[in-house]
Amino acid sequence: MAKPSKDEEEIAVPAPVFSVTAKDDKDKIALPDAHDPVTGHGRWLYEGRLGEGGLATVFRAWDCKGGLGFVAVKVLKKHSKAHARHAFAMHRESQWSLERLHNRADPRYSEEHAKLFARYLEDHTGFVELGPEDFEERRKDFESPSFDWYKQRIDLPIASKPYVVMELVKGETLQVAMPSMSATEKRQVILQCATALEYLERFHMIHRDFRGCNMHLIAREKPNESCQLKILDLGVMISSEAGMEVNCNMAVQAFRRRGETEEKRKRYDWLPWEVRSACDELQGAVKNFEPPGHSFDAFSLGVLILHLLLGKTKARSVLDSLQDHPERTPDGCGIGVPKELLGNLLAEAAKRPRPREVCAQLVPLRLKSPQKEAAVSAEKAEATPAVPSCHTVSLDLRAFACLWGLQTYDDICRVQRFSEHSSRTCVRTFGRSAMEI
Ligand SMILES: Nc1ncnc2c1ncn2[C@@H]1O[C@H](COP(=O)(O)OP(=O)(O)O)[C@@H](O)[C@H]1O
Ligand SMILES: [Mg+2]
Repeated sequence: MAKPSKDEEEIAVPAPVFSVTAKDDKDKIALPDAHDPVTGHGRWLYEGRLGEGGLATVFRAWDCKGGLGFVAVKVLKKHSKAHARHAFAMHRESQWSLERLHNRADPRYSEEHAKLFARYLEDHTGFVELGPEDFEERRKDFESPSFDWYKQRIDLPIASKPYVVMELVKGETLQVAMPSMSATEKRQVILQCATALEYLERFHMIHRDFRGCNMHLIAREKPNESCQLKILDLGVMISSEAGMEVNCNMAVQAFRRRGETEEKRKRYDWLPWEVRSACDELQGAVKNFEPPGHSFDAFSLGVLILHLLLGKTKARSVLDSLQDHPERTPDGCGIGVPKELLGNLLAEAAKRPRPREVCAQLVPLRLKSPQKEAAVSAEKAEATPAVPSCHTVSLDLRAFACLWGLQTYDDICRVQRFSEHSSRTCVRTFGRSAMEI
């Protein structure tokens, strides 16, 4: 890997230990394996803070010794024997990527789907050296309901704070980008979210933290180009295998304390109804999710759609009333989401559609200018060889959309391959009525 260019070298080098948000010394973070330009020791040349969540702080860094170039280094905030379960969670999140989502040797691997997730590159949590060699076996040990993180204290075989290294993801969080997104971008993001969840379902995994602050919009919509989403933070991701829904192991449970006030608890809006009610009762029954496995993230996607439609504050107040008044579900057709689909995502677990169904049920957006639509249709029709006429116009429009899997304007134009004349009529009819489906 080439050295940083002249410009990059001129960036001020932070001291190996620097303050993050910090008012006093106890908040300072010791950055692991930090490069010291004087002695040449240390691998990561830290450049600044990319973000921070409940578990970790993430830094942009240059790999001075391993050839990875620019990366994101995620460093655990708290570290002690008492916090070993957080180090395990960080180990597990990197292994979900290394061993599953981004593992080309896995028969379920798909490059197109995998690129929707940030790729983890290295695991420096120490857990690779603990317990069984195989990740699956190790996970079984440390996630066993009988493993007690308070009693069986773990000494990690590492000198620094536990950390993992990831691909550096560009762009800004979806949460920040949201107010400036176009309707088309919002629809594209929803489609990519559902596609990402479809991939997780293939691996029987549940993200459980599927919300705007854990996603980056890495490219915005341009003429002839779609926007692109990247999903981050597999920190509370668990397997949906049988028994996990009630597993009381502290590394499997999450969100047990949402806060003392109703105001604080409201912030956990992406948690499904059935999970949030079990969250705050520390002595009560554990409910990590309710089968079917996709139902947790499907609910969170419903909440994300509400945020995209209404903005965060209004989304939260509307959501509050939906459990008792599902008829108040807003219509999301303006961003491609039929009211019924959104209602089902936010309904009880058994009713929530599988990610694949979400993709299929998204509707095309109304085009901005009817003249432009007509011009594009005519142009495409001209370029398409005539084929025998069909009578799709008489079909029920909803069945028609399902039958052809119509999702985008391009999809609609594809219909023209079946008939030059009648399909144009059909496309116009469908285009007009799609909003009413
Ligand atoms: N690979 C990455 N590249 C760029 N920024 C990142 C990356 N990973 C995380 N971030 C930023 O850091 C923030 C916190 O990271 P996250 O993984 O969500 O931490 P936590 O597990 O503590 O919630 C994210 O909201 C995101 O903006
Ligand atoms: Mg996070």
